[in-house]
Amino acid sequence: MPNLSKHVARNLLFLLHASTTERVKDIIDAAIKLSQQRGSRIFLVGGTVRDLLLKLKPRDFDFIIDNDPKDFIDDLCPKLRANRAYYSQFKTSTITIDGLRFDFARARTEIYDKPGVLPRIHDASVEEDLYRRDFSINSIALELTDPKKPCLLDPTGGLTDIANKVVRILHSRSFLDDPTRILRAIRYEQRLKFTINTNTRDLLLQAVKAQTLSTVSGDRIRNEIDLIMDEPERASIFLRASRLGVLCSLHSSLSCGDWVKSLKKTGEDKLTYISTIAYKLSSNETDSFISMINAPKDWAKVLKDMSYLSQKETTLNALSLKPIEIYLILKNRSIHSLNAFKHSTNLKTTRKNICLYLDKYRHIHPSINGDRLKNLGVPEGPDIQIVLKEILAGRLNGTISTLPEEIQLAQAYLKSQKRT
Ligand code: CTP
Repeated sequence: MPNLSKHVARNLLFLLHASTTERVKDIIDAAIKLSQQRGSRIFLVGGTVRDLLLKLKPRDFDFIIDNDPKDFIDDLCPKLRANRAYYSQFKTSTITIDGLRFDFARARTEIYDKPGVLPRIHDASVEEDLYRRDFSINSIALELTDPKKPCLLDPTGGLTDIANKVVRILHSRSFLDDPTRILRAIRYEQRLKFTINTNTRDLLLQAVKAQTLSTVSGDRIRNEIDLIMDEPERASIFLRASRLGVLCSLHSSLSCGDWVKSLKKTGEDKLTYISTIAYKLSSNETDSFISMINAPKDWAKVLKDMSYLSQKETTLNALSLKPIEIYLILKNRSIHSLNAFKHSTNLKTTRKNICLYLDKYRHIHPSINGDRLKNLGVPEGPDIQIVLKEILAGRLNGTISTLPEEIQLAQAYLKSQKRT
């Protein structure tokens, strides 16, 4: 086994060099050199090692070091011209270069005082650090201290689980301590086309049943939703979460439904995906969900607009609707929600009316404005609104298309007012 692990370690180092740019290599080399100068050890870990083993391009670079990451980064950064951040709560430093993240964390253990809250941390050995993690596939470390002799640490059997395509937690309290791991397990399972192993699934279901997700702050739940929405497999993740009862334990109104299926069809824009969540939610349910996850303004806007559109779904299905009526129902609604709604609804006429609005009506504007109407003699107040609406209605249904025709319509209105 030691020979095999040496072979895997060398192979991983080769894959690391093959899959990264010169710039990334320079950063990793600088970090290794600095560790050597400080007489400390440095390991690549987590998703970086997992992805290399799966021959995927690493999304970011996670390192464990066995000394203070703040000092480490202070020494490293001037040489690299990088942005840096230090998170004292978890003794983690991050540098960002060309949009890529490099995390340097002090090897640690975690103590959870209560389910769902963030843990207290203690300095620990690298082996202990690997045991405190979420899944075996994320708990493999590649020691780079001497790049001529790379060394693999896999105390939890992550290599075997990667080979067998299995997501497995490391201890029976894992989902209780950190219920966000429920969502993470499903995310990795669907992203990597793995299977959550039987014992892990049983513990996940127990944690869901025990309502552990309600112990997690709304901000952390929102962060997990955000991460899911970034995944190409977002629809399968939500569908699986729904089947495992996770969605309704997140929020009762998310008891799944058509919105999950429509995620598959929705466009590429993230806010469009987010708005689909509120398809078929009442306005109260939407408000309560928004407040639960502490949604930022742009999320709240698209969620509310989607819920509004769902409530108008039947009204919009009437064949007799005039263009101005469609326009007035849909104006000022977010384009993201309208696009998402177009894919979500099964009602043909509703979809057609949404498309008409998106492709045509929303681009139509009268040439005339309120000041010009006042100059023509239309009195200030509601009359201006009435005339503008009539002009817009004419433009939308194609009965008028020029400024002189708009003026004619305003004059006809004035005449009719004088007669009455
Ligand atoms: N981790 C954990 N428990 C969590 C979150 C993270 O144990 N609730 C550990 C895992 O070992 C994970 C590492 O911290 O690999 C880094 O977390 P993160 O950056 O979220 O995940 P990656 O492994 O980088 O995976 P990816 O970004 O590809 O999803």
